[in-house]
Amino acid sequence: MKDYKKSTIYQIYPKSFCDSNGDGIGDIRGIISKLDYIKSLGVDYIWSTPFFTSPLHDNGYDVENYREINPVFGTMEDVEELIAKAGERGIGIMLDMVFNHTSTQHEWFQKALKGDKTYMDYYIFKDGTPDTPPTNWQSKFGGSAWEYVSSLKKWYLHLFDTTQADLNWDNPSVREELKEILRFWMAKGVKGFRFDVVNLISKPEVLEDDETGDGRKFYSDGPHVHEYLKELSADTGMENYITVGEMSSTNIDHCIRYSNPDEKELSMCFNFHHLKVDYKDGDKWELMQPDYRRLKELFEIWQTRMEQQNGWNALFWCNHDQPRIVSRLGNEKEYWKESAKMLATFIHMLRGTPYIYQGEELGMTNPGYSDIRAYRDVESIHYYNILKNKGKTEQEALEILSQRSRDNGRSPMQWDSGKYAGFSEQEPWISAPENHTFINVEAEEQDKDSILNFYRKLISLRKRYGVIQEGTVQFIDQKQPELLVYMRTMKGQKLLVASNFSGHEIVPEEPLSFAGGECLICNYPQRDREDRIEVLRPYESIVLFCAEST
Ligand code: GLC
Ligand code: CA
Repeated sequence: MKDYKKSTIYQIYPKSFCDSNGDGIGDIRGIISKLDYIKSLGVDYIWSTPFFTSPLHDNGYDVENYREINPVFGTMEDVEELIAKAGERGIGIMLDMVFNHTSTQHEWFQKALKGDKTYMDYYIFKDGTPDTPPTNWQSKFGGSAWEYVSSLKKWYLHLFDTTQADLNWDNPSVREELKEILRFWMAKGVKGFRFDVVNLISKPEVLEDDETGDGRKFYSDGPHVHEYLKELSADTGMENYITVGEMSSTNIDHCIRYSNPDEKELSMCFNFHHLKVDYKDGDKWELMQPDYRRLKELFEIWQTRMEQQNGWNALFWCNHDQPRIVSRLGNEKEYWKESAKMLATFIHMLRGTPYIYQGEELGMTNPGYSDIRAYRDVESIHYYNILKNKGKTEQEALEILSQRSRDNGRSPMQWDSGKYAGFSEQEPWISAPENHTFINVEAEEQDKDSILNFYRKLISLRKRYGVIQEGTVQFIDQKQPELLVYMRTMKGQKLLVASNFSGHEIVPEEPLSFAGGECLICNYPQRDREDRIEVLRPYESIVLFCAEST
């Protein structure tokens, strides 16, 4: 079995993790200073979001040079030291490769702007007049996906910000350049890669208007995407690295192909369907109560189909683009600890590779910013204006942002109860919520029953039990939408995982019985009987284990 199937990955957003030099911005030396903490979690890899040179319009997802380190974050020596020191602790570094687009500051784009034909063909330029974009496609950050360059009399495609120009993967030279970048980092000793929105790299030859949507149906999992990933892998030896693709608006059939080892594309995929169950009509910017029936259905489908066809899921609730899960599907007030632990248990016992996003292991919450000036993210600021133009009041727009903004996941990591949460000596680039006085590493180290120590236990269970790594998955039907129950089975080992996603007690229609069961982990004090569950307390989660003697 491949190593990634036993692993747990810790995601770091450097800008918000730890500031070593008091400029209010997290940096690489900050990460180095916290390696012992990360090691203490028991994780196997660190995935860091980009720290390459960049104008930071999208916090580093707009790369100017893939081989240089942004001085804000440190130097190449710092990165080498990070790789080495993590390695000494048995932790591999995974880098974030943003290969769908570059910053418009990238040398290639700058040359293209000057009319250099070679480099114009690195991007997607189309002829046109200033008033009509080539298609009606929309940028993921709002507005047209096209930007006009008057000196060239052409438009270029940007699925994200105007400063993030999409690369033309149909050009073999582009693919060669990107392979070289991978080789460069492989030679530095990194152990893996996360590929940003990698299922968007292949656009159709002929671009047309989307009569029913924003254009995504034409380029998500596009015509040559599998071919290009196979080529990237074959030509760089990527197969020996742990790789994960971020897949935007994808489907299971494609994810099976991306992650089935026989296809030699990637180790695993992130998909986001389970994080849209509270989007009204699929719109992130319209609030809705989570649809738990749908949540259950999605996990069941993705877990079972990926298993049947030998695909592999990246398991996660949080990342730098998502609100904090305890504020979203849990209850950050009365059941803060219970709900954070339940959500963690549910994810960590599934089939796949779990990812923990910095601060998730503390039960960090959305920061609850109530003023537009507290926000930093391009997407949030665009949408604040879009929402107001659509007729939402200031209050409504701010309420939506406080639940949906990507900045919810970007507030400073909470290390202690000090003025700036122990993140920095100076005022951070984005502010930390009040609750850092009790939600922080220092406080949770002291508390045996903390969310932090609970995560440590979950991570160590995956290491110890083959059934968590490899077992098959079966969801067990329950009448109540908020009760999610699944079994994992492997050669004589069985696991039952029951989770109550609600703030009230749930009595299952039939008691869940599990002969010979012992409790591996529960977020409430011990139960009377461990082989029979008659009621689940608010946000309770229980994992029962049974080794069948053969
Ligand atoms: C991914 C990243 C996100 C970024 C976008 C464009 O979704 O996670 O932060 O803005 O790609 O690169
Ligand atoms: Ca700094």
